[in-house]
Amino acid sequence: MNIDKILKEMTLEEKASLFSGDGFWHTKAVERLDIQGIMVSDGPHGLRKVIEEKDCVSDESIKAVCFPTASALACSFDRDLIERLGKALGDECQSEDIAVILGPGANIKRSPLCGRNFEYFSEDPYLSSEIATAYIKGVQSRGVGTSLKHFALNNQEHRRMSISAEVDERTMREIYLASFEGAVKNAKPWTVMCSYNRVNGVHSSENPKLLTDILRDEWGYKGLVVSDWGAVDNRVNGIKAGLDLEMPSSMGKNDKYIVDAVKLGKLSIKDVDKCARHVLELLDKYEDGKKSNVIWDKEKHHKLASKIESECMVLLKNDDNILPLDKKRKIAFIGKFAESPRYQGGGSSHINSYKITSALDAVKDICSVSYAEGYITNEDKTDEKLLSEAISIAENSDIAVLFVGLPDIFESEGYDRRHLRLPECQLELINRVSEVNENIVIVLHNGSAVEMPFVDDVKGILETYLGGQAVGQAVVDILFGKKNPCGKLAETFPRKLSDNPSYLNFPGEGDRVRYQEGIFVGYRYYDKKDIEPLFPFGYGLSYTTFEYNDIEVSKNEMNDDEELTVTVTVKNTGKVKGKEIVQLYVNDEQSGVIRPIKELKGFEKVTLNPGEEKRVAFVLDKRSFAYYNTEISDWYVEYGKYNILVGASSRDIRLKTSVYVTPTNNIRVEYTLNSTGGDVMSTDIGKELFKEFLKDVNVGFEGGPEPIGEMSEQMSLAMYNELPLRAMVSFSNNENITREKLSQFVKKLNIILNSDLY
Ligand code: BGC
Repeated sequence: MNIDKILKEMTLEEKASLFSGDGFWHTKAVERLDIQGIMVSDGPHGLRKVIEEKDCVSDESIKAVCFPTASALACSFDRDLIERLGKALGDECQSEDIAVILGPGANIKRSPLCGRNFEYFSEDPYLSSEIATAYIKGVQSRGVGTSLKHFALNNQEHRRMSISAEVDERTMREIYLASFEGAVKNAKPWTVMCSYNRVNGVHSSENPKLLTDILRDEWGYKGLVVSDWGAVDNRVNGIKAGLDLEMPSSMGKNDKYIVDAVKLGKLSIKDVDKCARHVLELLDKYEDGKKSNVIWDKEKHHKLASKIESECMVLLKNDDNILPLDKKRKIAFIGKFAESPRYQGGGSSHINSYKITSALDAVKDICSVSYAEGYITNEDKTDEKLLSEAISIAENSDIAVLFVGLPDIFESEGYDRRHLRLPECQLELINRVSEVNENIVIVLHNGSAVEMPFVDDVKGILETYLGGQAVGQAVVDILFGKKNPCGKLAETFPRKLSDNPSYLNFPGEGDRVRYQEGIFVGYRYYDKKDIEPLFPFGYGLSYTTFEYNDIEVSKNEMNDDEELTVTVTVKNTGKVKGKEIVQLYVNDEQSGVIRPIKELKGFEKVTLNPGEEKRVAFVLDKRSFAYYNTEISDWYVEYGKYNILVGASSRDIRLKTSVYVTPTNNIRVEYTLNSTGGDVMSTDIGKELFKEFLKDVNVGFEGGPEPIGEMSEQMSLAMYNELPLRAMVSFSNNENITREKLSQFVKKLNIILNSDLY
């Protein structure tokens, strides 16, 4: 497509017509210039291609394959696996002539209450962006586009179209935007979808800081920005801010506003051309990538869905090695979810599954189990008959496997959860069954963390999240040991909701929600506050065990523009083959700013046979050590020692080493008479200069200023650390110290300490 030529030939009206949808799922065609529209479709964990458009909400979609949802996928910590899923979805899109699949969602799980957490990956931005990157790369390798969503700070469903996320710059950069940043830079999604909400008062759909300054100018994004469906408020401001395409159609109303605004001189044709170019480039990518004859083998993808889910599930508890189950024992499956699992969430991602495999279906190939329904899924009311049936089969079994979780009504797109509990009827079921059988295994189906009052009463807990249409097969494969569990939690499970960092400020007041917890989201908060979670971030068990040894760094000192390689040995010390997710966290030992105790900066999943060991390598760079410095509006690495922690979870660190890092973008620090002794002595040169000064004025002791009164040298030094230079005039009875002399010293400090910056 010769885009320059087309742009020259297009009328203003034709350009404006490209800026909104033709109905819900298509872009508009411009017949005069032979420009075809394209079709987009919801995902992200399957294809929700609408058959016939009626009213969006009730539109029927084609029969498709529902893969595990994002909440499960992230627990795989497996880039290759997610890329493979992306390729499968890309093929499905090709076979259905879909140009762009609307996902993945990279919003951070700020609160476990967010109704849409099942569509998001993690509380950690690094993990989230790595998984999103793999997904995008996979889909796009098949010539199909993705839509990284919802950009940005859409962390709740409550008032999602009007709420303003009030967040400070550093938190936004380090947590919420970082989750998108890696994926934008490394995977280049064809489209980015702006969110419904406002960010610090400005709608994302007309937010120049988000859509242009950060996304395009800083991150170098070249693709198209599309609105979330119905996220547009002022369309003309949107064009100015960098929102290229409005979806769905505004029935041409907003196209007309755009034309009028240009005619009235309120919108420049340059802005219009920029957006038109982005739309045309998208159409071009579609044409280039289009493949005919791609066959969508649903059976194959159903099997893939099961394989993927078996690599995602997290084994949370396995006392007395109750799992894997011995098929010769008398086993009961209890709970409606064994027969009809909850495997996906409600809303725009809802897939019309062509087939569902429940655990009851899958177990038939292994052994016979007894079954009781136990509860009614969508009613939170104990059914006495179902309960007593369940108790009676549990009494007559060696092991009872209870399939429980959240019903649809408890979590969905469109609204948030009110609490973290399972339905009362399910809790009662667990309680009553555990009174008659001590061998209980819980299989959970939920899109986000739940409280577990039963944790000490059961021997096994397997978290499946919302595991896709083949979840039953995957569960049975794990329960009976055909597969070894190898997922780890991508979010913290708190003991109780009130432990969560956002608890006091979720979901906000009126149309404002303040992110008061700042950067302390998820494990960053639980670590800092020393709160014991129910299950920590990065945690998950296996049927085997792993040993960590021999941590090595490629250097002990480095500049922040260099890379560091960290290697460790991991050995399978158990009796079965298994996969271990090795996690690397960085800790800044001493910092002038408030930082988390540790942050995830690397992970690798490694497969090991019994007795086998492998070296696992991680590469760290500037971002692994940096924080976002709002003074310089850039990432900054303070000089100092950084500890490198490698382990099996955020609370199970097995190896530690360290490296000294020196910044290359030194910050100019302007000293004044209000700078404290501590400020001055924070660098080695500063310390020397201070000593020199004190010697000149004849004050001081070895290593610092003169002791104050009766205090020890150490106490005095601590006092001086906090004392502004100007106050030395009043606090020292040495007449040599005058304001003039201090001013001269400050001048000298500024010249010498900042000289290498020029
Ligand atoms: C959702 C998006 C979705 C779009 C189209 C919106 O309500 O927030 O995630 O892609 O609808 O269905």
